[in-house]
Amino acid sequence: MSEHKNPYPGENNTGHLWDDENDLRELNNRPPRWYMWALYLSLLAIPIYSFYYPTIPWFGESTKGLANWTQIVEMKEGITQLEDYRKAKFADTEKAIAESSLEDIVRDEELRNYAIKTAEVLFGDNCAACHGAGGQGNKDFPVLVDDDWLYGGKLSQISASITLGRKGNMPARMMGISDADADTLATFLIETGKGAQGKPNPASKPLYMTKGCIGCHGPTMKGNVFMGSANLSDGIYRFKADDQKASVIRTILHGVNQGHDPQTRDAVMPSFGISEVIDKTQIKKLAVYVHQLGGGVAVKPKPVPKPKAAESKVEATSTKTKPDVKVSARSGKEIYAKCQGCHNIGVAGAPKYGDKTAWAPRIKRGVEDLLKVAKTGKGAMPPKGTCFDCSDAELKAVIQYMMDSAK
Ligand code: HEC
Ligand code: HEC
Ligand code: HEC
Repeated sequence: MSEHKNPYPGENNTGHLWDDENDLRELNNRPPRWYMWALYLSLLAIPIYSFYYPTIPWFGESTKGLANWTQIVEMKEGITQLEDYRKAKFADTEKAIAESSLEDIVRDEELRNYAIKTAEVLFGDNCAACHGAGGQGNKDFPVLVDDDWLYGGKLSQISASITLGRKGNMPARMMGISDADADTLATFLIETGKGAQGKPNPASKPLYMTKGCIGCHGPTMKGNVFMGSANLSDGIYRFKADDQKASVIRTILHGVNQGHDPQTRDAVMPSFGISEVIDKTQIKKLAVYVHQLGGGVAVKPKPVPKPKAAESKVEATSTKTKPDVKVSARSGKEIYAKCQGCHNIGVAGAPKYGDKTAWAPRIKRGVEDLLKVAKTGKGAMPPKGTCFDCSDAELKAVIQYMMDSAK
């Protein structure tokens, strides 16, 4: 800065000269008018803003402002807008899903892709906690990505699993199994599961036959989708453990879903049709989604429109318009499929189908009395005979069906 006399007297400079040639001088001009106006207006904007919007911190919150505006409200409005947009855009697809049978959704590429995409989120929200993020199964929960099904891999069966829920039932210590028996049986199952390399002791098969296992798991050990009794022949275990044999022994000794036994296996699939946390269309999407995860039974191409019988069959498996939680009552004969595992051959003293001597005293007691016993279960007879979604009327129908067989 120069100490010399101001070389430009009369100019409104401050006397600060910044270079030797005095080309850079600090002047003392008023700011331009537009600039001052902008400044005053923005000062005025501050109180207006603070009255209008939430501004001043106020006991852990802030003043609300006249406009009642918050970012959350704005976000919610945005989401509503987006949802309205989506609803409008996909209304036709949603409607088509609601009205089509599960088979038709799978057959139609556009509907199928839409169902799968939207179901991914539903699955994450409602199912992943138990079945794992991609359906790969958590410890003690069934894997949904393979073709080893407890209750069947047809669309209608998957849909029923989700709608009605599932609760497998296996009695503890069937017919007085001893610890040694359980050990023998477990070795037998493990060895059988190894297939060709396995060395099942032939002497242990009779134990399987006589201790009631056959009633539910079947003569070929493949299980029964009506009861959700696991396939025991494939070496795939739902209740997995490092020591698989010990785990099998535990299942044999303590059963599945035997409330009174603290060591029993808990296996309850909640019923989404009854709880209604998701709606019917969402259940359809999920059924299609689970079906394509890996193990769904392939859907046949659409039958030619002519044969009426074939069409009505597809309709019956669809989840049509009514809530299908209680489909119209099934006949006694249909439900008997769930009872036949035990009642065809008389497992554990079950009165055999068509056996007059076994049924005569029971027919005398009357259907109401038998219904009471059938509902609560008795000995090896599981509560409701494993038909957990059966109404009283339906149970009566199937009991009547069995009684009629022995008249
Ligand atoms: C609380 C845990 C839980 C939740 C949540 C749950 N499941 Fe399950 N799920 C189970 C159990 C346990 C079983 C096996 C029931 C049995 O063993 O009897 C099962 C069985 C199934 C089956 C039958 C599997 C087979 O092998 O036949 C399907 C399909 C299924 N679940 C789909 C779903 C879908 C889809 C959802 C979400 C809407 C869901 N689950 C939510 C626990 C759950
Ligand atoms: C009343 C029908 C019933 C009878 C009788 C029965 N089970 Fe089961 N068992 C089931 C059901 C249902 C399951 C599947 C439970 C589930 O996963 O929800 C099961 C599961 C099992 C499992 C576990 C399979 C796995 O994947 O982890 C083993 C092992 C087993 N049973 C062995 C036996 C043996 C051995 C007997 C004879 C002593 C027997 N069961 C008798 C219904 C039965
Ligand atoms: C796991 C094998 C098993 C299954 C599955 C089963 N039952 Fe039974 N049931 C039995 C046995 C064992 C008895 C004999 C119980 C007794 O008298 O101690 C029995 C007895 C009965 C009785 C006579 C009860 C009485 O008081 O004498 C009725 C009725 C009955 N079952 C109905 C059914 C129906 C209906 C189903 C299918 C929805 C069914 N059961 C499925 C094993 C089974």
